[in-house]
Amino acid sequence: MPHANDALLSKVIDMAGDALVVLDGQGLITAFGRACAPLLGWTAAETLGLPFATLFASQSVDAGALKTWGGAREIVGRHRDGTPVALRVDVATVEAASGRQFVAVLQPRPAADEAHAERLALVAAMGPALAHELSQPLTAAALYLRAAEGLIGGDDRAAAFVGKARHEAERAGKIIRALRRFAENRPPETTAVDFDATVDEALDLALVGRSPPPDIRRSRAPGGLAVIADPVQLQQVVVNLVRNGLDAVAEQSTARLWITTDCEGGTVRLSVRDSGPGIAEADMARLFAPFRSAKAGGLGLGLAISRTIAERHGGSISIEPGGDGRGATVSLVLPLAGPAEHHVVQRSS
Ligand SMILES: Nc1ncnc2c1ncn2[C@@H]1O[C@H](COP(=O)(O)OP(=O)(O)OP(=O)(O)O)[C@@H](O)[C@H]1O
Ligand SMILES: [Mg+2]
Repeated sequence: MPHANDALLSKVIDMAGDALVVLDGQGLITAFGRACAPLLGWTAAETLGLPFATLFASQSVDAGALKTWGGAREIVGRHRDGTPVALRVDVATVEAASGRQFVAVLQPRPAADEAHAERLALVAAMGPALAHELSQPLTAAALYLRAAEGLIGGDDRAAAFVGKARHEAERAGKIIRALRRFAENRPPETTAVDFDATVDEALDLALVGRSPPPDIRRSRAPGGLAVIADPVQLQQVVVNLVRNGLDAVAEQSTARLWITTDCEGGTVRLSVRDSGPGIAEADMARLFAPFRSAKAGGLGLGLAISRTIAERHGGSISIEPGGDGRGATVSLVLPLAGPAEHHVVQRSS
């Protein structure tokens, strides 16, 4: 017959709002709160006397583990019907009258998408502060490099390298400031931009450090194309699309990219096609979701940021998945402002 205190403990466990499970010193279930039923599908009568591990998919959750639990653990539970349930499990040791017992608290873990949304909200909150913190050291670096350029004197090669370093530091500062504006939801700083020149500059940037250089087939529409755009943001989009193309062909011996600009009706289009494997149908829906990346070092932000920038410019990004020996084609479409020569266009650097 259970000790009076144990009976009280069992009653409390059963009534509790949290899903609580009591285990004896051997890790066998002695009480199973009613809040566990909706989570795992078992009833108390079915589980009493079973090992705690019955409730989990794979991990060994034996008496030894219960003794040394040490804080909440994320474990995959097993519903009575066999489906996995993401759980957070904490275990407390209770020295009851009848000996040592363990009380486990089971909580559902947020689904991946919720956790993902939380991470995203955190990054969005950090963005402006991070951009602010990075902007100052980048400005300082650019100023020091400018001073160094003046001190180098007759060494032309050294001066050229320091000049390039300064140019890149200034550019990084520009990007950080653009990112800050992006996070703050301010409209882009638009001006008339030569679309092809911007694409070419961004292409140079995307190819920095790529050795051997990939085979790039570039074709342009005759005559200049002008768009009203924020040149730094536009370059960001081009760099993202070209880098994705380069990543897609990284494993190939005959890697090739086709980069085409043309105009159709009142729009300009940049298409980046690659000779890679294309994109699986199942992956198409998630390409623009932030933080979804198939790459080891990828953030999964390139397409999400690019689409937001395109839409803020009144444009769009579309993807043809390719496959069956054809690579993907990613296209950026923006409203045409008119032939470039009719505008005072600003180069993007
Ligand atoms: N040209 C392409 N060919 C095949 N897959 C692609 C291509 N472009 C994008 N993808 C897929 O879309 C995913 C998302 O791309 P996205 O640019 O948003 O992020 P990423 O490249 O993984 O990381 P990063 O933030 O560094 O850009 C990639 O991880 C890749 O799986
Ligand atoms: Mg990318």
